[in-house]
Amino acid sequence: MKNWLILGATSGIAVPLARELASRGNRICLAGRRENSKRLELLAQDLNARFGVEAAVSYFDAVELERLEAFIDEVEETFGRIDGVVYAAGLMEPQLHLQRDFTAARRQHDINYMAAVGLLGHTARKMEARRRGHIVAFGSPAGDRGRRSNYLYGADKAALHLFMEGLRHRLAGKRITVLTVKPGPTDTPMTAGMRKPRFKARPEDVARDIARAIDDKRTVIYTPAKWRYIMCVIRHLPWFIFKRLNL
Ligand SMILES: NC(=O)c1ccc[n+]([C@@H]2O[C@H](COP(=O)([O-])OP(=O)(O)OC[C@H]3O[C@@H](n4cnc5c(N)ncnc54)[C@H](OP(=O)(O)O)[C@@H]3O)[C@@H](O)[C@H]2O)c1
Repeated sequence: MKNWLILGATSGIAVPLARELASRGNRICLAGRRENSKRLELLAQDLNARFGVEAAVSYFDAVELERLEAFIDEVEETFGRIDGVVYAAGLMEPQLHLQRDFTAARRQHDINYMAAVGLLGHTARKMEARRRGHIVAFGSPAGDRGRRSNYLYGADKAALHLFMEGLRHRLAGKRITVLTVKPGPTDTPMTAGMRKPRFKARPEDVARDIARAIDDKRTVIYTPAKWRYIMCVIRHLPWFIFKRLNL
């Protein structure tokens, strides 16, 4: 049994992931914004009822960057040593809006990248001292090549990918796994109204792939796996073709 902290626990992918982790007998701390306290409490009760594991709730807001390290300390005081942490919070606002509103772009960057650096970086220091732990965060195929339709979100995810890669390198040999998950379009509130549902993966399938990747100590996964090949092609398209595509 391990203690898992899920940051952004109301996310469409985090909900089934929490179930996967609880089904393995782990204790779960569901963390999200205080505005969602009812939803978080219900999710915790559901985990307890389904799997008989202890599930707690705690509150953070990713834009309150200066509070994040103290938040992790509080979770360890009240919930116990964090053995595994998932950063699932994220925001994808329309590219055109972000292009015109720097304040909104900066806020999104704080949620997608800076908060992850603060929360995971602080947790990593604790894990490093204990020489054990799992760290999981979400990159995205959008971070693999800059495209006009979403390069501000993509840049956040590319930065997070590099942060996780560096953290993995730093922690290599210290019995800490660092997993970057790159989901293809998945049917969650983030993609609501963006593509037909049949082109999107089911969050339950994505969560199952993530849980398996944690078990197998993988480093980077695309889920569904076909996105690795799709993005390999897109990354290697020559500029004279790429610039003509409406991506
Ligand atoms: N869905 C996809 O197609 C897809 C593809 C590639 C990567 N991803 C990434 O995978 C992760 C999970 O995505 P998802 O689709 O499950 O997302 P989602 O359902 O839209 O959920 C986003 C989560 O982020 C939280 N959040 C937003 N702003 C926050 C803040 N200021 N403080 C704390 N939490 C905040 C939300 O909390 P509230 O409930 O309080 O708003 C919610 O729990 C994200 O990092 C996303 O970028 C998703």
